[in-house]
Amino acid sequence: MTAHISTVAFQGIEALPVDVQVQISSGMVAFTIVGLPDKAVAESRERVSAALRSVGLALPAKRITVNMAPADLPKEGSHYDLPIALGLLSAMGILPNDYLAQYFVVGELGLDGSLASISGALPAAMAANARGKGIICPALCGSEAAWAGEEVDVLAADNIIQIVNHFKGTQVLSRPHPALSAKQPIMPDLSDIKGQEAGKRALEVAAAGGHHLLMVGPPGAGKSMLASRLPSILPDMDAKEMLEVSMIASVSGEIRDGQLSAKRPFRAPHHSASQAALVGGGLRANPGEMALAHNGVLFLDELPEFQTRALEGLRQPLETGETVIARANNHVTYPAAFQLVAAMNPCKCGMAGEPGHVCKRGPKCASDYQARISGPLLDRMDIQIELPAVRASDLALPSPKENSSHVAIRVTKARQRQRQRFLDMGLPHLRLNAQAEGAVLEQIANPQPDALALLSKASDAMNLSARGYYRVLKVARTIADLAGHDEVQKIDIAEAISYRQQLASFSLAA
Ligand SMILES: Nc1ncnc2c1ncn2[C@@H]1O[C@H](COP(=O)(O)OP(=O)(O)O)[C@@H](O)[C@H]1O
Ligand SMILES: [Mg+2]
Repeated sequence: MTAHISTVAFQGIEALPVDVQVQISSGMVAFTIVGLPDKAVAESRERVSAALRSVGLALPAKRITVNMAPADLPKEGSHYDLPIALGLLSAMGILPNDYLAQYFVVGELGLDGSLASISGALPAAMAANARGKGIICPALCGSEAAWAGEEVDVLAADNIIQIVNHFKGTQVLSRPHPALSAKQPIMPDLSDIKGQEAGKRALEVAAAGGHHLLMVGPPGAGKSMLASRLPSILPDMDAKEMLEVSMIASVSGEIRDGQLSAKRPFRAPHHSASQAALVGGGLRANPGEMALAHNGVLFLDELPEFQTRALEGLRQPLETGETVIARANNHVTYPAAFQLVAAMNPCKCGMAGEPGHVCKRGPKCASDYQARISGPLLDRMDIQIELPAVRASDLALPSPKENSSHVAIRVTKARQRQRQRFLDMGLPHLRLNAQAEGAVLEQIANPQPDALALLSKASDAMNLSARGYYRVLKVARTIADLAGHDEVQKIDIAEAISYRQQLASFSLAA
């Protein structure tokens, strides 16, 4: 008799159904697993037989064959232990196969029969739900799997004995509850920053519209400080955004204690990060930093120090909102709609343009350094600001009264205006001005005549590209939203242009 157990194979955040077939037949004693298993799956034989032995369920001295269909789909990871073990128990007549057929099964076994947590419990539970099935998973992943929906039957066990007892009716496993991380992360506050009013304002505008931000300034100006305070002024994610983020976090094994968090991701990879670390890849096509920053912020400090290849790898996701990892026989796509925040010194020694500073290497110091960032990448940064060094007189001032929670209220209001406008226009997939393109942007950012005149004059004078022109319009729409203007006014356009002018002076300094 052949037992069938359903499980999944992950391709990015997609969980594809896999049928684990277990057959016990007479013949030479053997235990073989076929169906493109990787090393972790092949080793599952040892774990499964040891685990069953330790709970007093020895394998029969017969020929055991495990096949995982479809045969051409690679099976990677350690979550196949439990489906194989339950398949064996079913083929041995210990568990009823028709009961098990109502579940997807995932879990890694220890030698003592205990169940260890696995990555991907959430997408697996979603896939089970989409097919009208329940899920059997380790207890440690139970509350994560429970997020897939109230109607999903989640059986979360500490060890294999509990599962056997549950099906025998001697012990009932209760359904775990979806858990939200109650821990409020301690976030640095904007009120720690003295002076730098222009920098704070730019951060607020960037947060309100989801715009990419570039900060240029000498070392110690407070660039890293400002960027690390962005999460404190961003609103929490809604349920849909949280599930999208959690699917990616789940696949990369980043969900702790099965608890999801509504806080937006803030990823700050070091500048030594490789292209693969940013884009994703490796043996299992794991998500990279860009995908992990989905719906949140990707902060690249010391931008020119990143490898050129890594920086160029940013361009496509910035345009399409997803990363694509090419593999031998297919490719894996992850959502990666992040807000890019970058910081850099104006030159290698960091002091170009500082009053009273003369660099020994002359203007070449700045031009060589800035040339590491390609024009197209620079063009995608909507808001570009120069942060001058803080003056000692600013540092001596008392801390500002306004803190992150005040700014967060304005940001949230501006975001709500944008969301409502998109909903009114019948575009529920858009949330932020930064996502609006072409005709939609022209419709929402309808400047008053004098504002339009200013924009045309400035774009001629500054030689703005078409992309540059639309980026100014986008940022101006956000500034108007922060101010509560229905139409984009001249003052909104003027501020948006000022965030673009930095680019002009920045390249002139080179
Ligand atoms: N505006 C400021 N207000 C208060 N402290 C500041 C300010 N700017 C810089 N600092 C101090 O200087 C340190 C270095 O700032 P940092 O953000 O790392 O500079 P950068 O990234 O521009 O080189 C901070 O840890 C902080 O102690
Ligand atoms: Mg820094």
